[in-house]
Amino acid sequence: MAKRLNTKKINLNPQYLRRAFILSVPIAVIFIGLSFFGFISTKISLLCFAVTIVSNLLLIFPISSELGALRCYIQALAGGTADEAVIKLSEKDTRELAQAITAVHKLWALKNDTLEAQTLSDAAVFDTLPDPILMLDSEGGITNFNRAAELLLGKNILTHSIDRLFSTNIFIAAVEKVLKGRSDSESILFHAPEYSNRRFYAHITKLPHHLKGRAAAVVSFYDASKALSLEKMQSDFVANASHELRTPLSVISGFIETLQTTAHDDEDARDAFLGIMKEQTEYMSTLIDDLLSLSRLEMGQNKELKDRIDLHEVIDDITQALKIKAFQRSISINVNELNHIPKIIGDNQQIHQVLQNLLDNAVKYAPENSEVKIELKTVPEIPAKSGQNIAAGRAVSIAFNNKGPKINKEDLARLTEKFYRMQIHKDMKIKGTGLGLSIAKQVVLHHHGNLTVSSTAYNGITFTVYLPVKQS
Ligand SMILES: Nc1ncnc2c1ncn2[C@@H]1O[C@H](COP(=O)(O)OP(=O)(O)OP(=O)(O)O)[C@@H](O)[C@H]1O
Ligand SMILES: [Mg+2]
Repeated sequence: MAKRLNTKKINLNPQYLRRAFILSVPIAVIFIGLSFFGFISTKISLLCFAVTIVSNLLLIFPISSELGALRCYIQALAGGTADEAVIKLSEKDTRELAQAITAVHKLWALKNDTLEAQTLSDAAVFDTLPDPILMLDSEGGITNFNRAAELLLGKNILTHSIDRLFSTNIFIAAVEKVLKGRSDSESILFHAPEYSNRRFYAHITKLPHHLKGRAAAVVSFYDASKALSLEKMQSDFVANASHELRTPLSVISGFIETLQTTAHDDEDARDAFLGIMKEQTEYMSTLIDDLLSLSRLEMGQNKELKDRIDLHEVIDDITQALKIKAFQRSISINVNELNHIPKIIGDNQQIHQVLQNLLDNAVKYAPENSEVKIELKTVPEIPAKSGQNIAAGRAVSIAFNNKGPKINKEDLARLTEKFYRMQIHKDMKIKGTGLGLSIAKQVVLHHHGNLTVSSTAYNGITFTVYLPVKQS
């Protein structure tokens, strides 16, 4: 609240009396001289002196009291408790002085507001930047940081210096180089063991000298781990795909060579070899088909989801298709349809492929003489981890269960990786490309559903496909 300044109050300050007295001294000397030489009487001289003091007082009082009020006004303005409009002064000079002071005050208040608004918007922009940013003083102490930096490095960043937050030598050396003025900017890629061993790309830039404040350099970080692991996944994929294709090719070329030389005239060997070669070319063609459909799915070149799919029919079809394979391994397939299953919207051929892959796996990896169970039901919603693009609302779940040893967590998490196959199954020489589950996962995600897997020692392994009843 602005304080009203009272300029009218009469306050006989001893200072005013002193001033009036000092101003009257020359007149007093004149009167004393006149009375000394007998020109006027002492009484008249004293009376004139008193009149002079009173008239000086009357002259000084308004200016001095308004100067006092002006001082209080300036103090109140500085303290932020005065209202510019309330000061009332009667003297022209002090009034003009007050107006000039008010104008300067208004100008500074405006500049201050603009600066404050600018600082606030700069801070907001700084905080919205997705990459962590730190400002450093010349000693490497942290003077400012954005929200992304706080999320990465924790809340008490300001109490640390950069070398306490990061221990990697090449990074510390690069920061030092910039702070000591040996370089204007440095960019490096480094491992940060203290932050889940992530790899950061850091850019350190020296700030210009004319910048006020303590910041001497700015460091921005970019988390390169994801991009690098993507790059590694791509190169692993190429290596795996070429390895998977080279193996049957070398088998085929070995047999061709044998048929051209040692087994040239051996009819039995020729039939057997041709059989194996046919098997290998079939494997290669399946592999290429799988790779192509996977790449199509990953590139988002998906078909439109417009078929109304009756899952009872699909389950019937796939159990028929795998009947002989199951019979050969003495496996019984039992289907349990728990409640009425509504038709779902999707791509009929893709859903067929996924469910057939999962039943094929169950029959292939279940121990001989065991049971494979398929359970079909509706669920109120699809279980999902945060960040997954999954449809909300009612869904259908199709669970495939087969017996087998409990699979550890690490293996379970990797089953849907391309080309990933469990060692026990490779050792058992069970055929497969390791692409079936990755395709299944891609198709299910394209349908805004989910694929989960669980394993227990008692129940074996269960893969569950969730598909939304309605595609939003
Ligand atoms: N029902 C299951 N029971 C036990 N292990 C399984 C089951 N399904 C998959 N696995 C394991 O997961 C791996 C990956 O399965 P995926 O279907 O992707 O490939 P695959 O069956 O090896 O080859 P294919 O491309 O011919 O399907 C398998 O090699 C196997 O080790
Ligand atoms: Mg498979």
